[in-house]
Amino acid sequence: MYQVQELTKIYDMGKVKVKALEGVSFTVPDGDMLAIMGRSGSGKSTLLRQMGLLDQPTSGRILLDGREVSRLPERERAKLRLRHLGYVFQEYALLGELTAHQNVYLPGMMLGEADNYRERARELLELVGLGERINHYPKELSGGEQQRVAIARALINRPRVLLADEPCANLDTISSAMVMETLVRLNRELGVTVIFVSHDPDDRKYAQSVLVLSDGRIAQRSGQVK
Ligand SMILES: Nc1ncnc2c1ncn2[C@@H]1O[C@H](COP(=O)(O)OP(=O)(O)OP(=O)(O)O)[C@@H](O)[C@H]1O
Ligand SMILES: [Mg+2]
Repeated sequence: MYQVQELTKIYDMGKVKVKALEGVSFTVPDGDMLAIMGRSGSGKSTLLRQMGLLDQPTSGRILLDGREVSRLPERERAKLRLRHLGYVFQEYALLGELTAHQNVYLPGMMLGEADNYRERARELLELVGLGERINHYPKELSGGEQQRVAIARALINRPRVLLADEPCANLDTISSAMVMETLVRLNRELGVTVIFVSHDPDDRKYAQSVLVLSDGRIAQRSGQVK
């Protein structure tokens, strides 16, 4: 369970200070599928980065299963990220010189445990509907297929939470639907908590809960999120 309490993020640009989040509080129950929506500049990516422990808030706290995680030293946060969180970026971030399969077991290669990860990487690629594409290089895949490889990679360490920042922003309608349906399946079949950012109001249909941000504050909430 995620608890976000009075979260504020101010970007200090010297003379100018940008208040990207202001007093944001909410709780996400385990197994939820939450959409974070709002206009450009409303603070969606800033919020997701704080929840993914990729950045630290100016004030306020984030608790994961009751433990404060937002102020841990970077080494501790990195460990939590590796063990519990999967992160998917808008622009896939795959390595072009590795195949889809190698991209997915890359975290294992970095730990010197590639052998233990190969089979799981193949299963994950099947799970996201790419069983026939495992030896393709990123440039031999469509945008939607590359994004599904990135999702498979984010799942390699069996995270309980998958965070995705506009995973479909670079995709056409059909590829977007396949990526979103993949996220829904992970949520329903594996029980992964999915938190995704979108500015397409149509994507609400994939979510169980919705938060709408406006100027760094919560303007609307619905569903299981409290
Ligand atoms: N690294 C940064 N340094 C300074 N200001 C930033 C930084 N990142 C974001 N901001 C500012 O904080 C505000 C919120 O930005 P954020 O990227 O969270 O918005 P967003 O809702 O994700 O927008 P978009 O839909 O365009 O991706 C914006 O005013 C932005 O200019
Ligand atoms: Mg953004």
